[in-house]
Amino acid sequence: MTVDTTVTVRVPAKVNLQLAVGPRREDGFHALVNVFHAVSLFDEVTVKAASPRRPRALTALTATGQSESHLARVPLDERNLAARAAILLAEETGAGHPVDLHLDKRIPVAGGMAGGSADAAAALVACDLLWGCGISRESLLGLAARLGSDVAFGLVGATAVGTGRGELLEPMTSPGRYRWVFALSPRGLSTADVFGEYDRLRPDAPEPRLDSGLEKALAEGDAVALGASLSNDLQPAALSLLPELGRTLDAGRSAGALGAQVSGSGPTCAFLVGGGGEDPAVVGEREAAVVAALRATGLCEQVIGADGDVPGATVV
Ligand code: C5P
Repeated sequence: MTVDTTVTVRVPAKVNLQLAVGPRREDGFHALVNVFHAVSLFDEVTVKAASPRRPRALTALTATGQSESHLARVPLDERNLAARAAILLAEETGAGHPVDLHLDKRIPVAGGMAGGSADAAAALVACDLLWGCGISRESLLGLAARLGSDVAFGLVGATAVGTGRGELLEPMTSPGRYRWVFALSPRGLSTADVFGEYDRLRPDAPEPRLDSGLEKALAEGDAVALGASLSNDLQPAALSLLPELGRTLDAGRSAGALGAQVSGSGPTCAFLVGGGGEDPAVVGEREAAVVAALRATGLCEQVIGADGDVPGATVV
């Protein structure tokens, strides 16, 4: 039998099509209805067997990426969720031949697109393969849920609704393919801070419910209806912490985006520019207009196009 000494896993970012936030639960988390949609902005996580004489399962953590400001926000120690994922899998399975972990980042960091969670999902898949644990899909999803609310979605990808604190996933029927534009902010936002601001603004939050209009738009692959159905209860909290996001959203809307909102807890802003059965030339023109308008604001660090949905963590 040949044993892999290096495994690379590619994992997508997510955008939220609906993020309905209920009251804070006793465990400090909020009840959510979270419609996740995986988009073609990928991180790659590589695990490499290190010297077996090294004492710990994880011996080194490194990161590369296109944006220096985003890389500066990646913790390179056990605060990193990907590191915690490798350590958790080693503890749970008794495996743990020492490994070096490398993150090649394209997903915005602290951007509301679950980049850290995606890396953790990829680290679970990569270490499972390198160590030959052969852990069941169900157990992998269970470990993912212990690591964070968004980690399980990194394994699953496509379009899915998360309930509980977001970790209990059901796939959704979504035959359409959509084109998105993402405006990256030069700043990061802490998810915990945004939820804290949400509590201050919405002390009376109702129980979250899945939007049936969104479900229908997805099932029919109707890009215009999807754009009109996007919703995010965390948006007012993100805008309260970073008011300039309002101008970014307005710029994309005025330029013709079918829908515009903050992704997750922000500060990345997501613009739906078309898809479903639309003429690709129309979508392309709309995308170009939205990209130009966003760049002209001078508020965006980067403006990136991507497609959705795409599959979850995949071995390269
Ligand atoms: O689960 P995760 O580590 O991604 O959550 C990050 C933070 O976001 C939590 O510490 C909590 O403050 C907030 N959160 C929440 N309710 C959720 C998910 C996250 O309050 N359902």
